[in-house]
Amino acid sequence: MNNQNMNNQTISINALSKSYKIGSKKIDVLKNLDIKINKGEIVAVMGPSGSGKSTLLHLIGILDRPDSGNINLFGKTINDMSEVQKSRFRLKNIGFVYQFHNLMFDFTALENTMIPQMIAGFSKKKSKKESLRILDNLGLKNRTNHKPSEMSGGEQQRCAFARAIINQPNLLIADEPTGNLDQKTAENVFKIIKEIIYEKKLTAIIATHSEYISNQVDRVIKLVNGSIYE
Ligand SMILES: Nc1ncnc2c1ncn2[C@@H]1O[C@H](COP(=O)(O)OP(=O)(O)OP(=O)(O)O)[C@@H](O)[C@H]1O
Ligand SMILES: [Mg+2]
Repeated sequence: MNNQNMNNQTISINALSKSYKIGSKKIDVLKNLDIKINKGEIVAVMGPSGSGKSTLLHLIGILDRPDSGNINLFGKTINDMSEVQKSRFRLKNIGFVYQFHNLMFDFTALENTMIPQMIAGFSKKKSKKESLRILDNLGLKNRTNHKPSEMSGGEQQRCAFARAIINQPNLLIADEPTGNLDQKTAENVFKIIKEIIYEKKLTAIIATHSEYISNQVDRVIKLVNGSIYE
């Protein structure tokens, strides 16, 4: 492979394996995966429940460690980073929408969105301004002072998305971002997400069970029992 192609590759995963141990029993969840994702690509990860989608997303998002194998993000190899470098890299480059427990329940939509900006070192004033702008973009202008329990599922999903993109990440990782929504709301939420992904030229990896989403993305990676099903 020539250099130009290497640079173009946002994500390169080689021989990635992950297992969990429960007592004396070992479950092999990801088995020797090789994946390449180009810059700007929107990829859906599909597969039955328990096939390893969240596990894979957590490894790519540097939230967990593989047993073996290698993940290279934007030319940097995760294995080579110290813990401090990993946190910095994550804050600067990765936005994560979690499958569960999306938002901090004691904080409003505005505060939930502002927090990553403030951790990144922006002033309260600047974080607030930017958060209001993004929440407005996502149709949440009238929900900024609502806590998660005072928002609908779709509103919470959009707020989680606002929080994930506020620091302008290069890579968006979303774990079933429309998982607990009715189909129509899911389609509307995904439409907004997709527009922003394209507008900001993000690379996106989205775990989903939705046929609708899988038809809207550039490519589908199918996981079955921890292996890629071609
Ligand atoms: N922390 C853990 N300890 C032990 N086993 C785990 C752990 N996390 C996940 N597993 C197991 O690993 C397998 C893959 O789980 P994972 O959450 O990656 O699946 P998934 O494809 O995201 O499923 P779903 O579609 O239901 O979200 C499952 O069999 C699960 O029981
Ligand atoms: Mg999952």
